[in-house]
Amino acid sequence: MAEATAAPASPPLTRREFLSYIWMASMLLAGGGTTGAVLWFAYPRFREGEFGGTFRIPVGAIPPVGADPEDHPDGRFWLVNTESGVLAIYKVCTHLGCLYKWVPSNDRFECPCHGSKYQRDGTWIEGPAPRTLDRFIVSVEDANGSSLAETASGDMNTDPAAGKPVPLESGAADIAIDTGKRVKGPLHG
Ligand code: FES
Repeated sequence: MAEATAAPASPPLTRREFLSYIWMASMLLAGGGTTGAVLWFAYPRFREGEFGGTFRIPVGAIPPVGADPEDHPDGRFWLVNTESGVLAIYKVCTHLGCLYKWVPSNDRFECPCHGSKYQRDGTWIEGPAPRTLDRFIVSVEDANGSSLAETASGDMNTDPAAGKPVPLESGAADIAIDTGKRVKGPLHG
């Protein structure tokens, strides 16, 4: 019976080779981690049409100027069309976070919890709420999705342009409301 021939043994790794393999493995891991982080931030966390993401509304579906604010429960905002433009007002009271309501007979928002009241553009009228209601960033877009006008972000306490209604420019096709970007309502005196 013929004897089996033993496979030649691989030479053992030198210390230098071992360290260079470890170094290459750690570089690959670091590179993979960086790529993952870039992808994580590059892709939107929220899909369109879910709270935290963008809500798109055709201009033809926006309530006329002066109409009652339109409730958008999925996006947690009230859509209001004022003479100066469009607002998307966050549905949470700035006092302790209750959901306030639109009361058509009084032409204002009223909070059932502690009685804070706000004008149709979210401006505080009375009650324990410390400030006006918050607004989401609204972008008025043309048919190609290019922005024609957008809510100015910034501090409404110090920047007179911040949070103002966005006019519906001619050529506007849609508005995009970003419920991930909120402009805080200013404190009242
Ligand atoms: S939570 Fe709205 S008035 Fe208190």
